Amino acid sequence: YTVPKAFNEPVKSYAPGTTERELTLNSFKEQYNQTVDVPLYIGGEEIRTGNTKNLFPPFDHKHHLGTYHLADKALVEKAISTALEARVKWSAMPWEHRASIFLKAAELIAGPYRAKLNAATMIAQAKTLHQAEIDAACEFIDFLRFNVEFMTQIYAEQPISTDGVWNRLEHRPLEGFIYAITPFNFTAIAGNLPASVALMGNVVVWKPSATQIYSANVIVEIFREAGLPDGVINVIYGDSAMITDTLLASPDFAGIHFTGSTSVFNSMWEKIGKNINNYKTYPRIVGETGGKDFVIAHPSSHAKEVAVALTRGSFEYQGQKCSAASRAYVPASLWGDIKNYMIADLKTIKMGSPEDPTNFVSSVISESSFDKLAKYIEQAKLDSDAEIIAGGNYDKSVGYFIEPTVIVTTNPKYETMQTELFGPVLTIYVYEDAKWSETLKLVDETSAYALTGAIFSQCRYAIDEATKALVNAAGNFYINDKPTGAVVGQQPFGGARASGTNDKAGSILNLLRWVSPRTIKETF
Ligand code: ALA
Repeated sequence: YTVPKAFNEPVKSYAPGTTERELTLNSFKEQYNQTVDVPLYIGGEEIRTGNTKNLFPPFDHKHHLGTYHLADKALVEKAISTALEARVKWSAMPWEHRASIFLKAAELIAGPYRAKLNAATMIAQAKTLHQAEIDAACEFIDFLRFNVEFMTQIYAEQPISTDGVWNRLEHRPLEGFIYAITPFNFTAIAGNLPASVALMGNVVVWKPSATQIYSANVIVEIFREAGLPDGVINVIYGDSAMITDTLLASPDFAGIHFTGSTSVFNSMWEKIGKNINNYKTYPRIVGETGGKDFVIAHPSSHAKEVAVALTRGSFEYQGQKCSAASRAYVPASLWGDIKNYMIADLKTIKMGSPEDPTNFVSSVISESSFDKLAKYIEQAKLDSDAEIIAGGNYDKSVGYFIEPTVIVTTNPKYETMQTELFGPVLTIYVYEDAKWSETLKLVDETSAYALTGAIFSQCRYAIDEATKALVNAAGNFYINDKPTGAVVGQQPFGGARASGTNDKAGSILNLLRWVSPRTIKETF
């Protein structure tokens, strides 16, 4: 068979007076004024343990959204055994049935669930309408559609045969279950990490981030409505260390599909290493972790373009994208103009509840994130080699609000030029124009992470030089564009060094990790 040709879901405008705006804001109100009681979901069964935690929106932390239930060790073990039981039929089912389920999920999100999932993402993760649309609707739909196309390309990859011999590859699912751990910041990633693995015939135990459970619950609803058989994706919440230790101790653990922090990923890798002799098969370890993403302007670049890229790349979704620009290098000759454009732009930015579509930014995700960011901002106020030129205020009385903040430093190795903050704080270093080549070297040397990066230049020699000098400093390298907003099928996403295993979500390369091919030679 061939499958429907994948295409990128068009981004809706949500302009005043549009139906999509009305539907989404209505759904926001409706969901906001109800409470939910989110169960675990194991083997198609909703499980309520009575051991619960509260849910609240980060931009209004006194508002009670409901509760979610926590798994104990016995339930984590049940999730494993249930997944393995489901594997018997799921892994043997013709692929078109799996494809069909995930294509249906894409259609449900594109149509009847779009407003609900976008609104849930606005509420749970404090995303604006536009940021929710490009994530929960478009990127998630794109992952689902493109994965199906990539899957058929993988299956079509076959060896040559010779006279009297038929060689073939059978792209088997992995033997065991896969542990999917997903982050708060993208609903699309939360959905894709378990879905891509399951599409290839695997079974999954999925632990969403504690700060994304509210919208993860809507994803579960969509997968169920799309007809996903019981036990293929099992969803658990609870103590992260206990869940991880229990899953990684299982001999049937066959892989991890992770997006989150470098330190958590490293600790899991160590645990997997320690358990290696207990596993039936070598686990696949796939992770996208941290970033300290750069923007470099060459003296030939246009100041306004750089300023817009910095404002959007650093502050959209409060800088909580692993791809967000968080350090910039600008030439002295352009600094005055870039600074003026940015300060003027930032003065017009409104911050508040995502329910008001005129707000460009909202709160950060949690109190711990707020406290960490506030600490770095206070430090910059004290340090002689740093100056705050925009923002610098914060307030957690209602929600975890941090103003988009720009620090300028005279020290290219200043702490916030190197440490990942994951929030709306950009640090800029102004270099002497004549030191362009040295600056490229400096960027590479200070790139412990290597996720995204952007260079702005109108000079082809400079572009060439930067592309070569930074060959290992970014898995996604942008020329004359901001470093955020990778589109599935267009810019496969991921980085190396401390940013992960670079298995490129939104490409065939990622799906290849979820099969274990068997070569069959048949002689006639
Ligand atoms: N895919 C997301 C972006 O590129 C993380 O911004």
